[in-house]
Amino acid sequence: MRKNKNKRQPAKRKAASQTQNSKRPCSDSPKRTENPQLTPFEIFFKEIEKFSKLHMKDRDRVQEILQSMQKAGSKTLQVISDFDMTLTRFEYNGKRCPTCHNILERSDAISSDCKKKLQELLDKYYPIEIDSTLSVEEKLPLMVEWWTKAHELLVNQKIKKAGLAKAVKDSEAKLRDGYQYFFDHLNEHSIPLLIFSAGIGDILEEVIRQTEVFHPNVKVISNYMDFDESGVLKAFKGELIHIYNKKEGALLNTGHFQELRTRTNVLLLGDSLGDLNMADGVQDMENILKIGFLNDKVEERKQSYLDSYDIVLIKDETLDVPNAVIRFLTE
Ligand code: TMP
Ligand code: MG
Repeated sequence: MRKNKNKRQPAKRKAASQTQNSKRPCSDSPKRTENPQLTPFEIFFKEIEKFSKLHMKDRDRVQEILQSMQKAGSKTLQVISDFDMTLTRFEYNGKRCPTCHNILERSDAISSDCKKKLQELLDKYYPIEIDSTLSVEEKLPLMVEWWTKAHELLVNQKIKKAGLAKAVKDSEAKLRDGYQYFFDHLNEHSIPLLIFSAGIGDILEEVIRQTEVFHPNVKVISNYMDFDESGVLKAFKGELIHIYNKKEGALLNTGHFQELRTRTNVLLLGDSLGDLNMADGVQDMENILKIGFLNDKVEERKQSYLDSYDIVLIKDETLDVPNAVIRFLTE
């Protein structure tokens, strides 16, 4: 995994850089302009509206949610985020970035025959995943089929646990710009971050470990690999999580949401309409602000994203808007 050198800090200088980072959400955020006539909320909201990639169907509703969340304070906040194409970039220099599955597929842990088969599955099922003319009910069995076939192929490859770190290191995976502030700031304010992914937990963890942002406030719900005594992949653990059953996944993890029951305000980040269900296990929810990244097939999907997410970020490869929101909520 090639890290952006500007964002990578030598271990010794990390503490200093974190303090610095905590003062600014990102290098390219709009500058704060103090205006005595405006309230802090108005200043903040004007700032986020300047992002040209930000779209909202109901601006007043977004304002209401944000004001209510700010009033409740950051001790009542939890963040729930999808991983692939939400915390990671969709493209870089015009080239698609890999998902957790792609990281493994493109590594030398997989035979060329298996690579070909996984690519064929991607070519067949990804267009279905993002097809706005099909209902969730129509897509659901096909998504189960995709995940089941892909995992079967992976299990047949006798992948070694010891090779996963190298697969991630050699990959083109990239967290979105502004990731350092996002992870560090949430940790500094002890705000729990749940990463809820239909990808592969072992790979996801390795990505955030290698970028040095796997802080103690992070919990991951995902598909985890099951290795035998000699460290060879023999199956995937537990219930399969695919793109459209995050509701069931959330309801299986009641313990986690029970622990966070005083955190009744949620910031949710996703890139698929299936991600909207990630907060279904949250107890006594008071407010939820849903931010959706619309990365692909923009024109066909724009309306459905605007109808479902409070804020839609179109072809935005940064975490600037979520960062501005978490900065405002922790001020
Ligand atoms: P996410 O829940 O973290 O976004 O992860 C799910 C993504 O994984 C979804 O967009 C499709 C992708 N995927 C692949 O790229 N290859 C595969 O073989 C499978 C099963 C999923
Ligand atoms: Mg995703």
